[in-house]
Amino acid sequence: MTKVWQLPIPPIYRKLPEPELRTRIAAAKATLGSRLAILGHHYQQDAIIDFADFTGDSFELSRRAADQKGVEYVVFCGVHFMAESADILTDESVRVILPDMGAGCSMADMANLDQTLDAWAQLKEVSGDQPIIPITYMNSSAAIKAFVGEHGGAVCTSSNCRNVLEWAFKGGELPEGPAGSVTPKILFFPDQHLGRNTAYAMGVPLDRMIVWDPKQDLGGNTEEQVRNAIVVLWKGHCSVHALFRPEHIDDVRRNHPNMKVIVHPECKWEVVQKADMAGSTAYIVKQVEAAPPGTEWAIGTEVHLVNRLKQQHPDQKIVVLSDCQCLCTTMYRIDLPHLCWVLENLVDGKVVNEIRVDAHTRKWATVALQRMLAIKGTGNPIGKQQPAGTTVD
Ligand code: 13P
Ligand code: SF4
Repeated sequence: MTKVWQLPIPPIYRKLPEPELRTRIAAAKATLGSRLAILGHHYQQDAIIDFADFTGDSFELSRRAADQKGVEYVVFCGVHFMAESADILTDESVRVILPDMGAGCSMADMANLDQTLDAWAQLKEVSGDQPIIPITYMNSSAAIKAFVGEHGGAVCTSSNCRNVLEWAFKGGELPEGPAGSVTPKILFFPDQHLGRNTAYAMGVPLDRMIVWDPKQDLGGNTEEQVRNAIVVLWKGHCSVHALFRPEHIDDVRRNHPNMKVIVHPECKWEVVQKADMAGSTAYIVKQVEAAPPGTEWAIGTEVHLVNRLKQQHPDQKIVVLSDCQCLCTTMYRIDLPHLCWVLENLVDGKVVNEIRVDAHTRKWATVALQRMLAIKGTGNPIGKQQPAGTTVD
């Protein structure tokens, strides 16, 4: 899909005071009624969450999108790849709208299709008969998802990465099935940290995972390293979660001995190893909701979610794991003026900022997403320790 940049919205929307924006959004929402569903990711600003019909992590929201049968419009308050997935999973008749086209994801932009085709050809050549199953994190373009679907793989989110990798190690849905008893090699896009953290928790040793740098020949590896690898991790990361470092956890341990550390699996391996728990945004929300009053948490994820949890649970002590801003600036682009602008256009019968995935991409990305939705046992945390005696080899 060709990227469309956000043109400035009419200046009036920037000038309206917040109470007026809220009134106009509520009125537009009421007028559109059951024709509209607004989905909001956990990292959205509170003001946006106030208008969301459904909130959740990227897995929950993809399920919600797939469930939207009678609606005409899905307004996706999240980032570009999430809106693309919503377009793929909803009926053709549903129009999916992203309030600000500039709401991308730097991690998703770290893998493009040309690089992927090049990496695939090189990996195939070196790996001989060993099957390779591509798995992509939800945080990737529709083009990468389609590549994965077309080559026997599936999408995963941070909620279900372990289940999807288990499925892949058993052979996934390769057309011809894995040759004999050969375990497939996994090519994991684009977040090296989610891939490494999850595979390690499943028993894959670190020295059997390599990083694939798309800017280098053989991804910067030797042929032997590629042949020996069980998991090939694309060189991508989230710049927000990269801000959390092991020293932050050391500080918490020193200064707050009763505080539990919970982090998102997009954090580096060293951070996940030192944390008490790791899991998706939905997992983090659930752990805090289930904790008794007086529980102390240092949370390693985007600041809007941490601040919301803090407000919702005043009986617990909740802090951001690091003193950095830890703000996803692209999620933050979705604000009341943009929401008001897209909704009022819909009331006037105009669809602005529509996300449309082309037919070929849609066909194969649907396959990859549907495989994910069909894999059982979703919602497990990734864990952080290697279970004794269980290595994947
Ligand atoms: P979740 O899948 O946990 O919602 O995370 C999505 C994301 O973009 C985290 O950075
Ligand atoms: Fe992308 Fe990171 Fe923002 Fe999530 S937090 S949307 S991975 S940049």
